[in-house]
Amino acid sequence: MKLLYIYASPRGEKSCSMAVAGEFVKAYLEKNPGTEIVTLDLFKTELPVFDRYAAEGKAAAARGGEPSERAKQAWDKIAEIVEEFVSADIYVFAVPMWNFGLPYVLKHYLDCVIQPGYAFRVGENGYVGLLDKKKVFVAYARGGVYASEEAAKIDFQRPHLRHLFKFMGIENVDELTVEGTMIASAEELKEKLDKARAEARALAFR
Ligand SMILES: Cc1cc2nc3c(=O)[nH]c(=O)nc-3n(C[C@H](O)[C@H](O)[C@H](O)COP(=O)(O)O)c2cc1C
Repeated sequence: MKLLYIYASPRGEKSCSMAVAGEFVKAYLEKNPGTEIVTLDLFKTELPVFDRYAAEGKAAAARGGEPSERAKQAWDKIAEIVEEFVSADIYVFAVPMWNFGLPYVLKHYLDCVIQPGYAFRVGENGYVGLLDKKKVFVAYARGGVYASEEAAKIDFQRPHLRHLFKFMGIENVDELTVEGTMIASAEELKEKLDKARAEARALAFR
């Protein structure tokens, strides 16, 4: 089994999403010794620019046709990242909310890995997700609180990622959310994190 731990916070030991996701990874390894853990720090990962050649390669992969030499080269770089992604059995994501959505490094990574022939295919009746055997654990963190119906309307973080998992065919998704990280006192934040870490541990051992 291979677990890919992808984190999109630059805040290291101060990161709330990483505190929770990291606990899940630790507990998962205790429960499933021998699991290969691969970590991907997105703020230290150089991803290729998704330019017109990459887009041409993507269109050719989805709908057929002969891509140009430059498109093939661009596509080879993308394929390397996608192949590492699809080689994992379980994904763990640490996801901060940035400007009501996903941090740009995570959006960039997802734009690289959600590719035809790997994450989905174009079927006769529309798109078909190909990653239906994978499992996901996500830890979300947000500075504010989005629990009310009104505030939930401006949460473009969790619904976005949920939809992308669905698009890729991943149904087996566990998630935990730590909210109000920027308005909580140090004591309150510790309480929130202790609770979320215990829940993450329980999910890993389930
Ligand atoms: C660039 C940036 C943008 C942010 N935008 C939002 C936001 O739109 N809404 C919010 O509730 N918190 C926002 N925050 C606060 C983070 O969501 C909060 O600090 C959270 O704990 C980050 O996750 P982390 O602790 O794992 O880094 C922002 C923080 C940064 C650095």
